[in-house]
Amino acid sequence: MSISLQTTVGDLASAIPHAARVFETHRIDYCCGGRRTLEAACQKVGADVSAVVAALEEPARDPSGDDTDWRVAPLSALVRHIVNVHHTYMWQELPRVEALMTKVARVHGPAHPELQELLPIVLGLVEELNGHLMKEERVLFPYITALDGGTVLTSPFGTVQNPIRMMNVEHEDAGGALESIRRLTSNHTPPEDACGSYRALFAALAAMELDLHQHIHLESNVLFPRAIDLEAARTPSNAES
Ligand SMILES: [Fe+2]
Ligand SMILES: [Fe+2]
Repeated sequence: MSISLQTTVGDLASAIPHAARVFETHRIDYCCGGRRTLEAACQKVGADVSAVVAALEEPARDPSGDDTDWRVAPLSALVRHIVNVHHTYMWQELPRVEALMTKVARVHGPAHPELQELLPIVLGLVEELNGHLMKEERVLFPYITALDGGTVLTSPFGTVQNPIRMMNVEHEDAGGALESIRRLTSNHTPPEDACGSYRALFAALAAMELDLHQHIHLESNVLFPRAIDLEAARTPSNAES
């Protein structure tokens, strides 16, 4: 595929299976910042545009083996994929990260004061995500799945745009927390004297960042815009309410 500098990074991440990996390598924000053009996104982080384009043009495949085109797959399948892959992962990791963070701050906080700053950010992110995932699974996703099956459910939230707006604000907040975590952990690099738990925490935070970027991209740039369009197609008179 030929790459235009004016294509948004969100669209590129949706269209090219290995684009997310390329963007992660160059620290390009393709989830919350997915509406920036490739040119603007590269400028923002000082990435070499021609190197990014060359990497995107390589005929590489997504190492996860998942090359489903979520721009056209049924929305109910995309919801299932997000829950099975990303929510399941988060439900497993959130309690583990919380326990590791608490223990490491207690034991190593005196020698590493940055851990005291990191602690409330990580615990705050864990708490936010617990509520966020629950709202998606109990309220928003069942509505989108029903919409995909041809039914517009009576909802307590009016148009689907309302919960989506709230979820996108929470995605921005999570993205900001991930940036702070990266800064306070020197890009997830444990210090020389770090014990096993310390190293396990930093590895878990790095893996969580990668997974959340892909998760938020699939929701904010693919699922949510498609759900808004589908609702508008099913109930044109209500779409703008
Ligand atoms: Fe989610
Ligand atoms: Fe979400």
